[in-house]
Amino acid sequence: MYIVLLGPPGAGKGTQAQRIASATKLVHISTGDMFRENVKNQTELGKLANEYMAKGELVPDEVTIKMLLERISRDDAKAGAMFDGFPRNVVQARALDEALKSNGTRVDHALLISVADAELIARLGGRWICRNCGKLYHERNDPPKTPGVCDACGGELYQREDDRPEVVRARLEKQKPPAALIDHYRAAGVLKEIDGERSLDDVTASLLEAIR
Ligand code: AP5
Repeated sequence: MYIVLLGPPGAGKGTQAQRIASATKLVHISTGDMFRENVKNQTELGKLANEYMAKGELVPDEVTIKMLLERISRDDAKAGAMFDGFPRNVVQARALDEALKSNGTRVDHALLISVADAELIARLGGRWICRNCGKLYHERNDPPKTPGVCDACGGELYQREDDRPEVVRARLEKQKPPAALIDHYRAAGVLKEIDGERSLDDVTASLLEAIR
């Protein structure tokens, strides 16, 4: 089963993808995490991606699609995957469709998580992430037991560079899922919209129900 999670920055895609991947055993593929790993390791791809990420812009399609196609060619994505942050536009969606078609598969579910801007700003401003295992927290909504320390692995928590208020503003202006992308999946008959302004557990339950 192949699932794409759509939604604006801060909608909860990463949090829910971690939960759904764990419940379904699907591999979680996050293009944002892949770019951040490259930035951390100071690869050529990371240096290029960071020029765009720091401004709240999308990394160019040819770079992103190449990275994604390489990732899904690996064995752990042959039986299915949970995509988080990909695709962002119709060009990327078509590239994914083509790649899956050549394996005789397709996107089975496109789940759009909807959240209003005021809530997105509050979520991004309070987000903390484990440097070691990537688990996501929110200082008010989903805090760790000990501030600054990951419950799961004891790792140090940090805040993303692109969660600074001026970058968040740019991301919300430029990175909401475009209508054409939503229409692409609606036309394919696989789109479901989920109200993301509920508790973490309620959103997870709706997403799991949608893919049953
Ligand atoms: P990416 O990492 O994908 O960032 P994003 O899409 O902006 O999404 P976020 O990770 O910020 O938010 P999220 O929806 O995952 O929310 P989260 O679960 O963390 O991409 C980063 C950058 O990489 C992009 O800006 C771009 O430059 C580049 N990039 C990536 N993919 C690309 C692509 N395909 N093409 C081109 N460029 C690409 O939750 C947020 C916070 O809210 C957390 O603190 C969480 O605890 C809290 N929260 C979540 N759900 C709830 C809830 N129900 N109630 C209360 N709090 C909640």
